[in-house]
Amino acid sequence: MKIKEKWSLPNLKEAARRTRSAVERVDQFYIPANALDLGEGKTYAISTYGCQANERDSETIAGILETIGFRPADDLEHVDLIIINTCAIRQNAEEKVLGEIGNFKRLYRNNKNLVIGVCGCMAQEDAFVHLVLEKYPQVRLLFGTHNIQDLPVMLYDVMVNHEKVVQVYSKEGEVYENLPVKRFGQHKAWVNIMYGCDKFCTYCIVPYTRGKQRSRTMDEILKEVQELKDAGYKEVTLLGQNVNAYGKDLDEGIDFATLLEETAKIGIPRIRFMTSHPWDFTNEMVDVIAQYDNIMPFIHLPVQSGDDEILRRMGRRYSAESYLKLYKKIMDTIPNAAVSTDIIVGFPNESDEAFEHTLELVRQCQFDNAFTFIYSPRLGTPAARMEDDIDMDTKRERLYRLNEEWNRHALKKNKAYVGKTVTVLVDGASKNNQNVFAGHTDTNKLVNFTGTNVRAGDFVEVLITDAKTFSLDGKAVEL
Ligand code: 5AD
Ligand code: SF4
Repeated sequence: MKIKEKWSLPNLKEAARRTRSAVERVDQFYIPANALDLGEGKTYAISTYGCQANERDSETIAGILETIGFRPADDLEHVDLIIINTCAIRQNAEEKVLGEIGNFKRLYRNNKNLVIGVCGCMAQEDAFVHLVLEKYPQVRLLFGTHNIQDLPVMLYDVMVNHEKVVQVYSKEGEVYENLPVKRFGQHKAWVNIMYGCDKFCTYCIVPYTRGKQRSRTMDEILKEVQELKDAGYKEVTLLGQNVNAYGKDLDEGIDFATLLEETAKIGIPRIRFMTSHPWDFTNEMVDVIAQYDNIMPFIHLPVQSGDDEILRRMGRRYSAESYLKLYKKIMDTIPNAAVSTDIIVGFPNESDEAFEHTLELVRQCQFDNAFTFIYSPRLGTPAARMEDDIDMDTKRERLYRLNEEWNRHALKKNKAYVGKTVTVLVDGASKNNQNVFAGHTDTNKLVNFTGTNVRAGDFVEVLITDAKTFSLDGKAVEL
C-alpha cells in the first residue's frame, strides 16, 4: 500500500509526549460551504465499541452528520455511510472490530458508493492503520480521536473527490466546545468533564490514544448540565478517564469536589461520575457525595490488583492497604454506598500468592459489581515489554476463581435488598412484555419489575421480591 503524502498516520512516540504547553480551546465549529449539505438525502449508521467516552464521541459524530444533512439509516442494506468507532483497550475488543469490518465488505461489494469509516482508539494505533490499509480496501476513511471535528471536510474528500482519507493526529489534543451532539438517550446523558489521561498505568493504551489530560472549564460543564436539566433529562454521568484529577490542569484552582457540588446545586435529579482513580480520591469528594441526595451513592473504583508488588509494577501508586482505607471511608461516610471495581488477572509474572492477595481484597471489599479481565499486552506500553512466564490456562483459571468470588458477594449484597422498596429510574419496557420494565436504583442496581402506567424516564418506587447476581426483580408499588 502506497502511503499518500496528504495522510496523517499515528505515531506512538508522539502520542506518549507530554509538554507543559497550554491546552488550546476551540469554541467554533466550522463546516466549509461545499460540505454544508453533503449528507442531504443520505443515511448513516454508527457502530460503537468500548467505553462511555466512545459512546459520547459517537453522539458528537452523529450530531455532525445530522448537521450536514445525513439521517439515521433504517436498514444497513441501503445505508450510505457506516462509521465504526473502535476500542483498543484489549486484544479481544480489536478482534471484534476487525470481524465487523470484514462483515461490511459484502455491503461495499453491492454498493461501491458506500463509505465505511473507522475511527476511535484503534485508529490511533500505527499497526492497525497499516493493517486496514493493506487488508481492508472497503475502508475509505480512517480518522483518530483528535480529528472528529474535521468530519465534514474528510467526508467531502471521500464522497466528492473520491479520495481515500487517513487523518490521525497523535498529539496532546485540544478542548473543543460547541460541537453538535445528538444524544442517544432521552433521560440519561453523558457529560465529558475532561479528556485524555496522564496516569500512564503500565498496561494501559488510553494515554496514547486519547492524549494528555485536558479538563473542560467548570463554566462550560455547568452550562451543559443546566441545558440538560432544562431539556428534561433525569440523570447525567460526568465522564473522564480519571475524574478525581479534574481541574489539576486548569489555573482556576477548582477540583472535582467543587465541580460535583456545583453540579449538584443545579438540581438535576441524578448525578453519576466515572471513572475514579483511588490515587486522587479526596476526603472532600467523599463528603460532597454524602452531603447531596442527588449525587448517587455509587462509586466505580478500579483496584486492578490486591497485591502491592503488582500494583507497583502497574504504576497505580497506591497499596492494597490504602485502597481498603479509602473503601472503608466511603462506606462509613456515604449512607447506603455501593462500590464496583475493575480487576486485571495475569499481569506479567503475577504469582499465585499475588493472585491470592487479590482474592483476599475482594473478600474484604465485597464489591457490588466487578469487571474482570485477563491482562492483554498492548503494543508500546511498558507492561508489554515485561517478562511473563504465566501460561494462559493459569490466567483463565484465575479469572474463573475471581469471578466466583465476587459473584458470591454481589449476590449476598443483592439479597439484602429483598423486601425493601427502592426508587428506580425507568429505562424502558421489555421488548417481549409491555408490563415488564427495567431501570436502575441510586446504587446502580439493574431492576426488572412489573407495573402499570410506567414510562421510560419515570421515577418509580419498586418493592424488591427477588435477587440475582446481576439484577433484582420487583413490582411497582401502586399508589
Ligand atoms: N489488559 C486487560 N485489561 C485492561 N484494562 C485496561 N488495560 C488493560 C489491558 N491491557 C482494564 C482495566 C481498566 C478497564 C477499563 O480495562 O481494568 O480499568
Ligand atoms: Fe488507563 Fe490508568 Fe489512565 Fe485509567 S488511569 S485510563 S487505567 S492509564
